[in-house]
Amino acid sequence: MNSDQAANLRRIAGKQNKCRYLSVSSGKGGVGKTTFAVCLASELSKLGRKVLLFDADLGLANVDVLLRIPPGANIRDYLAGDAALKDIAVKTSLGFYLFPASSGALELAELSEEEFDKIRTILKELESGYDYIIFDTGAGINANVHRFTRLADKMILITLPEPAAISDAYAFLKTAVRQYEVNRAYLVFNRVEEEVSSLRVFENLKRVVKRFLGTDLLLLGMLREDGMVKRSARGGDPAAVFKGDSVFTESVRRIAAGI
Ligand SMILES: Nc1ncnc2c1ncn2[C@@H]1O[C@H](COP(=O)(O)OP(=O)(O)OP(=O)(O)O)[C@@H](O)[C@H]1O
Ligand SMILES: [Mg+2]
Repeated sequence: MNSDQAANLRRIAGKQNKCRYLSVSSGKGGVGKTTFAVCLASELSKLGRKVLLFDADLGLANVDVLLRIPPGANIRDYLAGDAALKDIAVKTSLGFYLFPASSGALELAELSEEEFDKIRTILKELESGYDYIIFDTGAGINANVHRFTRLADKMILITLPEPAAISDAYAFLKTAVRQYEVNRAYLVFNRVEEEVSSLRVFENLKRVVKRFLGTDLLLLGMLREDGMVKRSARGGDPAAVFKGDSVFTESVRRIAAGI
């Protein structure tokens, strides 16, 4: 028996914890990736899963800012050899762990393939400790974003139910399909005010994606416009919103249960 067969047998026997990678991306910026990724990490933790939220917006990281976590060692310190891996992941008040990145670091925004290999190594070292690693990527179609989405078991795209955001979501998927195989992707509509028309928009997009890209697009969920989320990001305590029962957290809870 070779090692792959042995690993498969352990998996079938349920004795091996297989960490799943989820990526959260979008074409257009500011559509709610970070808000959703944090809430999803929080809801999966509430279900008893061990979750690491990896701030994959390497050069413009802001999960720590959203969660009001004081600056500490981050991925930049690790790559520079100034910090050990065990000193970087921090436990958040929402139960999951955060692997913070750096804000304003141009060298992280434009990593070479060799430098990204170090990140793959980091992930391999981290994955035995977690059930899920979630990548909160930056917006758009740059190389870093696609390197992370390519690693994911589930590619989650966030969009608003608006033509510009939907067209960017399609463009994102198109650039992905040109570089690597994407048999299936999952869509989340955020800031939805009217579900019936968003559903119609989804059905059209799904058809176009299947026809022109050959990818199955599945609707993971719709998240409502939520004044509590917006107000908390502007000065309150977002963690308090994610701990409680807002319209937004309830929708993300359903998604987490499905995952
Ligand atoms: N469902 C919602 N209801 C109300 N406000 C929301 C909702 N989702 C996100 N927002 C607000 O939209 C803004 C952008 O959200 P967020 O930072 O999560 O987007 P992003 O896609 O991660 O942005 P970037 O592309 O810059 O990384 C924030 O102020 C957030 O509070
Ligand atoms: Mg973000």
